[in-house]
Amino acid sequence: MAKLVINETKTQGVIAPEIYGHFSEHLGRCIYEGLYVGENSDIPNVNGMRKDVVDALKEIKVPLLRWPGGCFADEYHWMDGIGDKAKRKKMVNTHWGGVMEDNSFGTHEFMELCRQLGCKTYVNGNLGSGTVQEMSQWVEYMTFDGVSPMADLRRENGAEEPWTVDYFGVGNENWGCGGNMTPEHYANEYRRYQTYVRQYDDKRPIKKICCGANSDDYHWTEQVMKTCFDHTPEHLHGFMDLISLHYYTVPGPWEHKGSATDFDEEIYYKTLKKAYDMEELVSRHSAIIDQYDPEKKIGLSVDEWGNWFDVEPGTNPGFLYQQNTVRDALVAGINLNIFNKHCDRVKLACIAQMVNVLQSVILTDGEKMLRTPTYHVFHMFRHHQGAELLASEISGSSKTGTEEWKVPELTESVSVKDGIITITVNNLSLSEAKELDVVFAEKKDFEVVEANILASADVRDHNTFDDPDKVVEKEFTGYSLDGGLKLTLPAASVVEIRLK
Ligand code: AHR
Repeated sequence: MAKLVINETKTQGVIAPEIYGHFSEHLGRCIYEGLYVGENSDIPNVNGMRKDVVDALKEIKVPLLRWPGGCFADEYHWMDGIGDKAKRKKMVNTHWGGVMEDNSFGTHEFMELCRQLGCKTYVNGNLGSGTVQEMSQWVEYMTFDGVSPMADLRRENGAEEPWTVDYFGVGNENWGCGGNMTPEHYANEYRRYQTYVRQYDDKRPIKKICCGANSDDYHWTEQVMKTCFDHTPEHLHGFMDLISLHYYTVPGPWEHKGSATDFDEEIYYKTLKKAYDMEELVSRHSAIIDQYDPEKKIGLSVDEWGNWFDVEPGTNPGFLYQQNTVRDALVAGINLNIFNKHCDRVKLACIAQMVNVLQSVILTDGEKMLRTPTYHVFHMFRHHQGAELLASEISGSSKTGTEEWKVPELTESVSVKDGIITITVNNLSLSEAKELDVVFAEKKDFEVVEANILASADVRDHNTFDDPDKVVEKEFTGYSLDGGLKLTLPAASVVEIRLK
């Protein structure tokens, strides 16, 4: 029988709440309809933000939101999105579907959304097509409390107090849609642009995020780190707080990525294997960063991750709208357990994207809304936020899969907070339930505080607007406490169990 050995006497660092972050881009129906409907909408809203969606998001304790892109960020000129809404520029969203962007959601609206969610802010600046001055002025507009042209403009537009910008991205995917740069070129631009991302308030410093690699492009990480830290004077404290990594799980070739809901055993395991590749990506990028930052002061920001499938038939290909099944829940469970276990380096992560785009936690259809299986995984895993990681290891379990695509049968992570231990474990086998013995270093007596599971009769099951609660988190009863804790994990399931 497989055994999960937990050393509850050995903590391994805090799991940054920001690992459970989200990403929202001006793409398809993520911002418009998904999050923001405007003050005059019939859909119940608070200052334009839809109430049903915000309420649901609060239940998963969203710690951080990234905005305005994505590729959109390097085409976004923030001044288009401030002031009287009726006078804001109407323009084409060239990158995503060629639809009209009326700029009714801008900086003030993003800050209002984060206020309602009670989450940290991650603003992504435009390095690809914007100027240093434009980036610098945006930071001044958002964060300066004194008298200055930008701070005065903010006040004229109704925001007396500056906001807190917790994280600022200096460009996005500058190896691709953000300017097709070489790593050396980008790194030199990073050095220049970040200089003018001023810190106006010592008590609320902005953490700067450098654009890192696309999936396994280790050369990018190596060259960017090398160029950034070549002749970099000591006094440049806060020069780079995090470096990003983007990795999507795509089971097929780009032109035929595969259906979100219709897949066979081969594609199921291929998807999980590709998701599990995140372990190697995080390890290898971290090893490169270690060479320049052995004290691990620079965090890895996996600020775009998740499944990328073909769009739902009949929908705009530029909107990236896809359904979400139990397979998505497992991919979320795999990634979140990996990030937890690498919390010494991974300090932030954003699933792409929050609503109606790629692997979303929420889908909407006009006034209707549903929570996806991925939502329920974020709900179960929320107890890891800010908890201390505990050393844990699974032994006695093998790999599962097809001839070509194999993954570990079980993946897990364990943390402790306020005396309660949270274990999250995924059974990746499509067909077999797994028994798991849980063994502690010293702890002998414990009680189960709560236990929940996400599973369904068929791994392709998903929630629809006609049946929004087909796949939901349920109470997990598959454990016994006779002679120690034993779990029986159903096939293709994500389980959370909390003990004290
Ligand atoms: O999330 C969709 C797109 O994927 C983002 O805009 C871009 O950064 C990435 O390529």
